[in-house]
Amino acid sequence: MATSPEPPADPEPQPSTPSGSDSAPSNGNGLSLKDLHLLTAARGLRSHPTSVDGDSEAYHHSAYGSIGEESLDFDLEQEPEDLDLLSVDAVHRFIGSEKHHCNGVPRAEVLARVAGTGLAPWEIHRPQKFIRELVLRRGFSGRVLDAGCGIGDNALYVAKACPAAEVTAVDVVPRCLEFAHAKAGIRNMRGKVDFVVADLTEQDPAKLPPALQRDHFFDVVLDSSTFHCFGDEARSGYQSTLRRLVRPGGVVYMNCMSEDETRPGGPGRVPVADIKAAFNPFTGWEVEAVEDSVVELHPTFWAGRGRARLYTIRRL
Ligand SMILES: C[S@@+](CC[C@H](N)C(=O)[O-])C[C@H]1O[C@@H](n2cnc3c(N)ncnc32)[C@H](O)[C@@H]1O
Repeated sequence: MATSPEPPADPEPQPSTPSGSDSAPSNGNGLSLKDLHLLTAARGLRSHPTSVDGDSEAYHHSAYGSIGEESLDFDLEQEPEDLDLLSVDAVHRFIGSEKHHCNGVPRAEVLARVAGTGLAPWEIHRPQKFIRELVLRRGFSGRVLDAGCGIGDNALYVAKACPAAEVTAVDVVPRCLEFAHAKAGIRNMRGKVDFVVADLTEQDPAKLPPALQRDHFFDVVLDSSTFHCFGDEARSGYQSTLRRLVRPGGVVYMNCMSEDETRPGGPGRVPVADIKAAFNPFTGWEVEAVEDSVVELHPTFWAGRGRARLYTIRRL
């Protein structure tokens, strides 16, 4: 396997323009009751120490700020009906079970059930480590697409750390975008990321929102744990959508769980050969680099990390 240069010595990215305060929201801050439910769900997560990296906890509370749980004024009388989705254990058992898999990947409806709750194993409420490292390597500039953005921490981080980048963040699950939008508000970053609901496997541009109708529009695509959710058919559709959206010379950074991760359940495992089957000169791409990586997870799911690879894929 080819490896790329060592990551920079300092793992802590320094956001260049902290845009506004990370002050906590109140009910008068434009957040709906639903926003508050979603954010309150995240309280269970935040009560766990962040054990993924020695540096992560300090990072989470300093450079990136908190989601402002302290002043959420939550009315226990009005808890949502689906209390299962407010239990970290229930959500992790559900998504972690191979019972819900089809051909090695969680079924789309299973993913949609937990994505955007704020409690899914990958919803760690901070940007992934590989993205912080890519920021230090100046990986993001121009028009950036966060493909399968989840609850928005990665996209908001890139927008904050790379103010010259124009970030569009897309997910097929509307609840993810609601959560991301609420986070943007709390961080005084409303309008800094264009959050869009869309299915990135859709082949007809006319059925996609305007932000995704322009061909060869994006310079950089960020795929953090999205490709590894797809079965064969979706992989092909997704590749072809990205081929249309990315300009020649543009780049895709794709972090996927590797087959070295042998614990049962979780997302699909993606050997290098699978990436090269989808992204190769015949389909309009060149895989430029393959690096060992991790997917950071909730600390009580697989002890907070899964073995992964980061691919740098160039659009020819
Ligand atoms: C494992 S999560 C990763 C989320 C986020 N990138 C992160 O690192 O936290 C995969 C995300 O891809 C989204 N997704 C799955 N299929 C999609 C599709 N066809 N189009 C757009 N997003 C999709 C899911 O809703 C989910 O939020």
